[in-house]
Amino acid sequence: MAGIWKLASVALFAVSITAQNSTYVNPAVPTGTPVAGVYTGSLRPQIHFSPPKGFMNDPNGMFVDANGTWHLYYQLNPTGIVAGNQHWGHATSNDLYHWINQPIALFPPEETVYVFSGSAVVDSNNTSGFFPDQDNGVVAIFTLARYYDDGSAGPQTQNIAYSRDGGYSFEYYDENPVIDSTSSQFRDPKVSWYEDHWVAVIAYSQEFNIGIFTSPDLKDWTFASNFTPHGLLGTQYECPNFVKMPVRDADGAVIDEKYVMAISIQPGAPLGGSITEYFVGDFNGTHFTTSDAVTRLTDFGKDNYAAQYFYGIPDGQNQINMGWASNWQYAQKVPTGNLEGWRSIMTTPRVNYLTEAPRIGLVMIDELYDLTPILDDQLNASIFNGSGTLALDYSSVESGALYLEVNVTNINTTLLTEYSTLNVSFASPASGEILQSGFYFSGDTPFFVNRGGIKGFDNVFFTDKFSTSDVYSTGSGDGLASWSMKAVIDRSIFEVFVDGGIHAGTVLFYPQQPLTALNLAARLHPGARISVNVRSLKSTWAEFENENGTVLGNVTDSRS
Ligand code: FRU
Repeated sequence: MAGIWKLASVALFAVSITAQNSTYVNPAVPTGTPVAGVYTGSLRPQIHFSPPKGFMNDPNGMFVDANGTWHLYYQLNPTGIVAGNQHWGHATSNDLYHWINQPIALFPPEETVYVFSGSAVVDSNNTSGFFPDQDNGVVAIFTLARYYDDGSAGPQTQNIAYSRDGGYSFEYYDENPVIDSTSSQFRDPKVSWYEDHWVAVIAYSQEFNIGIFTSPDLKDWTFASNFTPHGLLGTQYECPNFVKMPVRDADGAVIDEKYVMAISIQPGAPLGGSITEYFVGDFNGTHFTTSDAVTRLTDFGKDNYAAQYFYGIPDGQNQINMGWASNWQYAQKVPTGNLEGWRSIMTTPRVNYLTEAPRIGLVMIDELYDLTPILDDQLNASIFNGSGTLALDYSSVESGALYLEVNVTNINTTLLTEYSTLNVSFASPASGEILQSGFYFSGDTPFFVNRGGIKGFDNVFFTDKFSTSDVYSTGSGDGLASWSMKAVIDRSIFEVFVDGGIHAGTVLFYPQQPLTALNLAARLHPGARISVNVRSLKSTWAEFENENGTVLGNVTDSRS
């Protein structure tokens, strides 16, 4: 993000603590207790993570511990609804949908040195020496970004902090920085383990290099190689991720494994602002080599940035990521800030592996992580032969959140016309607003989302139509094709997974009135089978509200 820090770097309090293992605590920021939040606002998602209050951006430090607890840290300005004053907020979950807000995990070391993005690992073998008596020690590695009183940017260095209580509270290492720098554009370390050493990928943002560093102990780092400019540059590289993934065949069997280098670019993405691209290749412990010259994008919308992959997924398994569902072009302007006192949502958790998609080759699949804990009533289950429509009033669904799945089989492509379509929309009968999506089964086979009919936010960069092209497969040799979509809508966010997750679209929208009417129309040919399933989703926040409707978070025990 460029330029915005001037706003935040104005000195508010005349306290300055410079010892490297101390922190500066702004008196307005609570310590040792979570920030309380109200999750009932009409734009507040009910099955997604959003911060209790204030401004959130990138997910940070994500790991899963040995008990199966998922830890999500995130860039947080606890004192404002725009970026600035960056801390690491923290939340935990046992199912990736119910999140318990925890006390803020990382505070800035000085008033105008911000804790920027980074990652965390469980140092179960005590390579760092911080954890002589335990195997659940956590080390966070992150960028400290200095700002001067005139608002100009100082150096960005890489630093560590360790946690002896499983990731709930951290101490700064007293010999920071672990990777020094004079550059003001060197940030966002993501650490993983490779055979016998740690590996960090870090963005030299404006040089468009991803530095690969190695370390035996998370303290001493050696520069190993640069992944030099690749793909789309935008005007900065940020938040690199580097992760090994299984490659699966059409039946789901693992046939190989490959590394994915994901790079977020901002600003200057093709759709405007921020986006994430990725490269597939191999890694030898120091150097990453791409398998091909292809630049792939993680999303066909423009609201999925800086996603991070959880550390701690056992080798050989699918990876899991969550992204920041926003775009720097308008993240600090969206109406939730003034209306409800919070800004930004994390995407749903997504399961990732690589597979060969028809025609376009290797892609990273995005599947929704197991929704079972939040699935509620079956609102509709229909099977149409050839064509059919569905109109569903879901105003009685308290969460306002739905899951929709459409599976189309027995598609005879020789019978398709330009009118062979599936249309799905969500509308507010009260305000006339409408969010539309749909697929054309013939021609260039585009899938689209149109948020232009939603009226609660007007911004020149909040562009309203997104599409992709999905070459769907002709199944198992009978000449008949099949296609599917899965989607989640949750008050102000729509996420769609097209054709088994070959394409994913993440789309924010801000209605003036809640959307409560689902309309679906399928028009194919006799013999085509369209199966539709609609479920309501249970609010994961409502369970944690007190009698005043406030979610206090974990105020009792910092380890549950
Ligand atoms: C990406 C980013 C990172 C930086 C963080 C600061 O959104 O700009 O590069 O570490 O946000 O909040």
